[in-house]
Amino acid sequence: MTAPASIKTAYDVEKIRKDFPILNRQVHGKPLVYLDNAATTQKPLSVIEMEDRYYREMNANIHRGVHLLSQESTKAYEDARVTIQKFINAASSSEIIYTRGTTESINLVAQTWGRKNIQAGDEILISHLEHHSNIVPWQMLCEEKGAKLKVIPINDRGELLMDEFKKLVTSKTKLVSVGHVSNALGTINPIADIIHYAHEHGALVLIDGAQSVAHLKVDVQKLDCDFYAFSGHKIYGPTGIGVLYGKLALLNAMPPYQGGGDMIASVTFEKTLYAKPPHKFEAGTPHIAGVIGLGKALDYVTAVGLDAIAAHEHELLVYGTQALSQIKQVRIIGTAAMKAGVLSFTLGEIHPHDIGTILDRQGVAVRAGHHCAQPVMDRFNIPATARASFALYNTKPEVDLLVAAVHKVLEVFK
Ligand code: ALA
Repeated sequence: MTAPASIKTAYDVEKIRKDFPILNRQVHGKPLVYLDNAATTQKPLSVIEMEDRYYREMNANIHRGVHLLSQESTKAYEDARVTIQKFINAASSSEIIYTRGTTESINLVAQTWGRKNIQAGDEILISHLEHHSNIVPWQMLCEEKGAKLKVIPINDRGELLMDEFKKLVTSKTKLVSVGHVSNALGTINPIADIIHYAHEHGALVLIDGAQSVAHLKVDVQKLDCDFYAFSGHKIYGPTGIGVLYGKLALLNAMPPYQGGGDMIASVTFEKTLYAKPPHKFEAGTPHIAGVIGLGKALDYVTAVGLDAIAAHEHELLVYGTQALSQIKQVRIIGTAAMKAGVLSFTLGEIHPHDIGTILDRQGVAVRAGHHCAQPVMDRFNIPATARASFALYNTKPEVDLLVAAVHKVLEVFK
């Protein structure tokens, strides 16, 4: 792959920023400092232009038409699947299923593999760090089947207690479903160890990669995970498109998720034969433009290089952690030894929503709230945090602006 001219050699963040038009805008008369990347990332021109070009030049339904436009859009749609396969090093493009996002990917596994394989008395193991989307689908399944949901506890730094994890895995454990990176705290979980241990004890493993694929290199074959889920919009792609990776043998044995067009081999009123994976799981007209845009987004990330991105974001994390720690009212929530670029914090008694609102007036966009991870907030006895999260286009001067804006919050509440 050829790198865009702007990012061919050393990491040049100013050149990268030029690829993201939204970063030029102002909010409340101030330059935008976008630090809400764990919620969603901004999109590079190559993705925006691809979406535009798709609708201007190629729009047609896939797998259905003999006409040229349909052939072109089908090819682009299936080529993106190969791009995704290579990006996470799946063994086959048939292991890449398009979904609406991480949430739907997890629900798909719960409703297909889960409903077929989970029985009364079985156990599903998640962790205390999970996003609601990796809690609620399993609660629903356990309720339906009479199975039990168990939770790996965390320490005060926001790290999984691996000794407890090992005690919680039993012969009843059918699935371990954990996040690769915590959205609320940034903790990078030791998923290779988790997968290895779970497999030794006969359990499958699903990894929620929503917060990791844009920040860490993922190799699903090396990890040997059974399922890996992620969202397009958190890796510089469009919203409404996501991926479920699953090992082919598992996908072959799973019932379909939804019934409809494009997921069948043949239909009669007596019996329907299903298509093979991945199409078995892709009923109905999919988000074609989103798929093609996601392929472009992954091309962009590949061209910049995930190792370079991870190093850059780590530098921002260290710099931001040091700077915020100088402020005595700041309490950083989530101080794991292994962290991705997430800085969650509280500021004395000031409610995070007030922090977020005042930061916004300074042009600084962060997320404030429970981050769809209420059990994490409960663990730290807080209702919410303010959360700055970094992406490949953020800079140290932006971190300085965050810190200055935090001082402004203190001034307002003095
Ligand atoms: N799950 C996303 C976040 O953490 C929306 O903000």
